Amino acid sequence: MLEVDGIHTYYGLSHVLFSVSLQVEPGEVVCLLGRNGAGKTTTLKSIIGLTPPKQGSVRFKGETITGNEPYVLARKGIGYVPDARRIFADLTVGDNLAIAEKQSAADWDYGWNKEKVFELFPVLREKESHNGGHLSGGEQKMLAIARALMGNPELLLLDEPTEGLAPLLVQALEERILKLKEAGLTVLLAEQNVKSALRLSDRGYIIDNGRIRFEGTVDELRANEEVRGKYLLV
Ligand SMILES: Nc1ncnc2c1ncn2[C@@H]1O[C@H](COP(=O)(O)OP(=O)(O)O)[C@@H](O)[C@H]1O
Ligand SMILES: [Mg+2]
Repeated sequence: MLEVDGIHTYYGLSHVLFSVSLQVEPGEVVCLLGRNGAGKTTTLKSIIGLTPPKQGSVRFKGETITGNEPYVLARKGIGYVPDARRIFADLTVGDNLAIAEKQSAADWDYGWNKEKVFELFPVLREKESHNGGHLSGGEQKMLAIARALMGNPELLLLDEPTEGLAPLLVQALEERILKLKEAGLTVLLAEQNVKSALRLSDRGYIIDNGRIRFEGTVDELRANEEVRGKYLLV
């Protein structure tokens, strides 16, 4: 579903990603693990076109999409949940969701709509008329994910969904992400929280200093203490 092949990404003159390659198969949850500053967010931003790579390619369902604009990629079926939850603080929960809904999706029986995201995140139904800015941190994360779902993505890029959340909320969010997986969504998950990421993922990559250092199944990642100790906080 997603093939990132040897991308190099810069912020101005600063070279941040060095030949990063990764693949995500349909239906998989794949994690990108790494310490703060390792290049996780930049990798997601390179895929979604916010920081287009200078070299290398990104393919989605076989089509080259390198450097395409984010809105084009949203239409093609890639959802993106940034690390800072960019919800609209002045709009209600309901309006945050309504503006993200794909026009054509409303009359599909499958696909996401407000009712379905409320089933997944019941707290959002309770707070439908509250302003986004008045939600707790965890609720804002849920709203950010719910909003991405309203665009009916096939592939969801999730940037540190559990960051800053209390353990109980982490668990609640993990359960929801597993439900998305059961529903057939493909997910690329950037995380520093190794335990959480390994509970959710089928496979993973470790990134450090803008380079992929390891790739393997979750069992291989769990077993490889040396790699975890070297590149991750464990
Ligand atoms: N907007 C920016 N301008 C310049 N450098 C940046 C910018 N954003 C991130 N960086 C640098 O790029 C590197 C990778 O950052 P990032 O992708 O945010 O890492 P992570 O998400 O793994 O914490 C870091 O060295 C960071 O300082
Ligand atoms: Mg980041």
